Amino acid sequence: MPDIHDMFETYYSARPMLSRFTPGRVNLIGEHTDYNGGWVFPTAVPQGLQLAMSPRADNEIHILSDKFDTASVRALGDAAEDHWSDYAVGAVRLANEAGFLTGGASIAVASDLPFGAGLSSSAAICVGLLKLARDIAKADMSDTDIAVMARSIENDFIGVPCGIMDQMAVAYCTLGTAIALDTESLEFELVDLPKDYHMAVIHSGIFRQLSEGRYKVRKEECDVAKAALGRDDLCQLNDAELAALEGQVSGAVFRRTRHCMSEHRRVVSAVSALKGGDIAQFGALMVESHASMRDDFEITVPGLDRLVADAVKLGALGARMTGGGFGGCIVACVERTKLEDWTAALLAQHKNAFFVC
Ligand code: GLA
Repeated sequence: MPDIHDMFETYYSARPMLSRFTPGRVNLIGEHTDYNGGWVFPTAVPQGLQLAMSPRADNEIHILSDKFDTASVRALGDAAEDHWSDYAVGAVRLANEAGFLTGGASIAVASDLPFGAGLSSSAAICVGLLKLARDIAKADMSDTDIAVMARSIENDFIGVPCGIMDQMAVAYCTLGTAIALDTESLEFELVDLPKDYHMAVIHSGIFRQLSEGRYKVRKEECDVAKAALGRDDLCQLNDAELAALEGQVSGAVFRRTRHCMSEHRRVVSAVSALKGGDIAQFGALMVESHASMRDDFEITVPGLDRLVADAVKLGALGARMTGGGFGGCIVACVERTKLEDWTAALLAQHKNAFFVC
């Protein structure tokens, strides 16, 4: 990655007022629970975004990326136009509403997060820019409130109906620390990951985007279940409540609900297994999570299923697809001493897959 200060200064002929690094995230377990009243357990990846910012006296937003030679120039009042600079427009706009900025901003972004990998580059840019604006203003706002604001950029400005997981993960996680997050109360615990095991992230080579619409379809199916039950916390159903839903909704909606309920329970068990040093149990829960995403939530694709199965066959303690679904990455729990051989063997069998971290 280029040095963010040099990049900013070369283009804008001035040093940035402030800069910071915001990591991408990978979810270890707990998929599609973050808008259904459940827990998630993501951690930071080493890759992420270097961001630099200076306020501007006018209402323009200039945003320079290490991938392009010139900055995109947008106005504070612009609508989203399906361009990556929309995230900066949304963030600077909310920073104005919060009183952190009074006008536009000059921004530079350098990234080593692989594009379209589902590692939350959009959450990183929103959270990173809002933290910069807050810190420039020396305002007193918690990282949780920053994450909530960042989510509203996605939901209300960009139009992606995501939950709060990604924003909380990139706001709080550092390398080697995962966040056990109750997405309903936003209470959380930071948990150290075991040093002898690596949470390997392998991209399947299958690319997808949340804005493609399949994520939205799943969310709508959950909404049907919520309407039938008259409650929003699908993850908190007990066995009898789930059983009573069968027949009231379509088979697909029933299976989506069963995934939410079982996945939430798996996260709670996985967090306590990890804290208790039971890595084998943690791995087994990852495998169960993948099966539930494949059979009940139906968000995996055959290429991902094969990658996960081979990851386990080759010695991972557990593996699962991670993120919104339909492509992107798997995460696998592998003994550190075996990581190199395991990776080489897996990639030899999956020619389009690549090692992320
Ligand atoms: C995407 C969304 C998250 C979450 C996951 C699925 O990453 O941005 O809010 O819903 O999918 O767990």
